[in-house]
Amino acid sequence: MPDANATLKLGNEEKSFPVLSGSVGPDVIDIRKLYAETGAFTYDPGFTSTGSCQSAITYIDGEEGVLLHRGYPIDQLAEQSTFPEVAYLLVNGELPSKDELDQFTYTISRHTMLHEQLANFYRGFRRDAHPMAIMCGVVGALSAFYHDSTDITDPKQRMIASHRLIAKMPTIAAMAYKYTVGQPFMYPDNSLSYTGNFLRMTFGVPAEPYEVNPVIERAMRRIFILHADHEQNASTSTVRLAGSSGANPFACIAAGIACLWGPAHGGANEAALNMLREIGRPERIPEYIARAKDKDDPFRLMGFGHRVYKNFDPRAKVMKATAAEVLKELGKSDPVLDTAQELEQLALQDEYFIEKKLYPNVDFYSGVILNAIGFPTDMFTALFALARTVGWVAQWNEMISDPEQKIGRPRQLYVGEPQRDYVPVEQR
Ligand code: SDX
Repeated sequence: MPDANATLKLGNEEKSFPVLSGSVGPDVIDIRKLYAETGAFTYDPGFTSTGSCQSAITYIDGEEGVLLHRGYPIDQLAEQSTFPEVAYLLVNGELPSKDELDQFTYTISRHTMLHEQLANFYRGFRRDAHPMAIMCGVVGALSAFYHDSTDITDPKQRMIASHRLIAKMPTIAAMAYKYTVGQPFMYPDNSLSYTGNFLRMTFGVPAEPYEVNPVIERAMRRIFILHADHEQNASTSTVRLAGSSGANPFACIAAGIACLWGPAHGGANEAALNMLREIGRPERIPEYIARAKDKDDPFRLMGFGHRVYKNFDPRAKVMKATAAEVLKELGKSDPVLDTAQELEQLALQDEYFIEKKLYPNVDFYSGVILNAIGFPTDMFTALFALARTVGWVAQWNEMISDPEQKIGRPRQLYVGEPQRDYVPVEQR
């Protein structure tokens, strides 16, 4: 039952629409009947004030800088949980018991290998292909290899596809890296943790044993957890929209990867590190802050600002602390971190950033850690896609099981030519 009504006056007509309340967060005005009752559409480019669905997976309070996954605060999960446990939580809704976690971990480990033919698929790319181009292609191709888990009406097949995607993304991402550096692919080693397995497939070589560094494993695990899900962001909305047509899960996740690649979204981690490197020295920061404020300059501070967070992105706080910790424990220093900290300091004191509520987001510090671990910059978004696959899979399953969901088909404000007759070319 709706909790209240909102009344809209359009011309001489007044119409009421139900107001629905969630468990926490803003109410929504249910306008599903708006067009039928008023003949008008809403207009909301970028969906700044539009709720696309009901969801119980992730809650964000942008004003307070709060991020909850199934009610659990992100900083607690980043500190105390593991990525498979967070994956289980996002997909199933509750933290697993020990037995449930062991079973889930075992199930995931049975799907870490790729069909051997897919290795040939990689060989079709140029060696200098961007890893995200490879990820889009390979993940989209999975439906050509795993037909037995593409029937989205079968809950069992949906779960197998979900497990396959969660399990295979580290293998796919590591193979994308190996291919671009000309090293042989490494098969998974299921005796390692999810994160350790990924690190070995990425940085290990067949010629010698690979020891997983616990400092790096812990940092990588935190990075995966921090990137796992984030409500109805652009790439998750892409996955949901693709899924709403009944497309198979592999195609939907490939669509999400394509959307995430954009520099305004997941591509920002690569762009942020490139920007910090371009700035180079702290004394050049004011020049870049001035450019970011200049309306005539398309330059934006990458890793800054967010559609929802108008306060600190809680993930950025954990990422910043982890960056300092990893550099210290690896005995490394990185002038980029100094530049990032100085840039954050200066920006947060600047009237423009204060007035527009622009804070560092998840992408501002992640590149410092990934660079320290040894990833090339063009792998950063592939790592984001690896981690976000868990959120995309959870959101995709929730969408399919939601009785209210139907094919997504927005309308528009038409500003083109009214009807006119065709004019033969001789008369134009
Ligand atoms: C992610 O949605 C999610 O949840 C995404 C994500 C996730 O986990 O899925 O959190 C991951 O994508 C994080 C964001 C990564 N992107 C970047 O760091 C790129 C730089 N940031 C901006 O492009 C921007 O802040 C966005 C895209 C993140 C948000 O854009 P919005 O919400 O559409 O905000 P906006 O563009 O309307 O900006 C509001 C104002 C504008 O000025 P005015 O037109 O009002 O004068 O703030 C300015 C913008 O020009 N602004 C910036 C800025 N970000 C916004 N000015 C300088 N530098 C910036 N970074």
